[in-house]
Amino acid sequence: MASIKDKIHAILLRSKSCISDEEISTRLGISRSAVDDAVRELKADGCEIECVTNKGYRLIENCQKLCAGTVMAELSEERQGSVTVLESVDSTNTYLRKLLLESAASAGDCVIADRQTGGRGRLGRSFYSSDGKGVYLSYCLTLGGVPSQELSQITAWASVAVRDAIYKCCSIETGIKWVNDLVCGGKKLCGILTEMSVVGQSGEAFGVVVGIGINANQELSDFPQELSDIATSVKIITGKETDRARLCAEIISRLDRLCEDFPHKKDYYLSEYRKSCAVVEKKVRIIKNDTERTGTAIGIDENFGLVVDFDDGERETLTGGEVSVRGFYGYM
Ligand code: BTN
Repeated sequence: MASIKDKIHAILLRSKSCISDEEISTRLGISRSAVDDAVRELKADGCEIECVTNKGYRLIENCQKLCAGTVMAELSEERQGSVTVLESVDSTNTYLRKLLLESAASAGDCVIADRQTGGRGRLGRSFYSSDGKGVYLSYCLTLGGVPSQELSQITAWASVAVRDAIYKCCSIETGIKWVNDLVCGGKKLCGILTEMSVVGQSGEAFGVVVGIGINANQELSDFPQELSDIATSVKIITGKETDRARLCAEIISRLDRLCEDFPHKKDYYLSEYRKSCAVVEKKVRIIKNDTERTGTAIGIDENFGLVVDFDDGERETLTGGEVSVRGFYGYM
């Protein structure tokens, strides 16, 4: 439930000219003094708001934080109610999964955080996200009657959806490093973690939480030393600040579409995944259960599996699971 402050923040962001406290108070059905109090809170949060005599308030500069009001301003009114924006959380995936398991989340619900203190990645790894400069978003899908083999393809579908959102908002073409990373210039820009739970009294449906982490406004010096050769950000690539709220809204809209498309419109997602897959025709190292084998990735099969010709002559199709793919000399 959005607070008065968030609602006023969104109104000020959307309004091109000054807007009087009287108009805001009528729109929201609150007193003028409640409007003035909320404006004071917004200023304390870092928003630069001018008050023009006889005209009202105007937002001159938004705050740096990714907060509920800023995200709400990018969403339609009916979509705003199912999006929660937190200042800080351990992990948006952990938060949303908990709600899902308590039957307190449903399809389309999203959780976004300005920062995470315990961002998680695949295979029990951590995902660096403590800086308030990235996009950390989890989205809930509920699917009934879909075979589990198709369910496991959600990560690949989401990679295409997020690739498209990044292209639309940041004009960056990303490649997909099988199975869940988006890359640019040989470095990681985005990671996707999909987690499934059985929900419903008779376990008839699957609840899926798709978590997306994008390096948006970090400088190279923001990343810890061990990530400096592996990670990149939109800012490093383009030199420009990303509007994180706009990117979140675009991702939400692409994932909403994915929910409508799944599983019928597989052809589009599969052909786009194949076009963007950055490891095909490359020498790769495949790491599974601490064992490393080398080979050449030769294609993506009908189920988004990675087909690899191993150097020992064996051909294998890898499915998501417990497998890591690395380039021959490093991350890519
Ligand atoms: C990976 O790189 O293996 C996947 C990283 C996924 C990170 C995102 S950030 C939002 C959501 N919350 C998490 O804890 N993880 C995902």
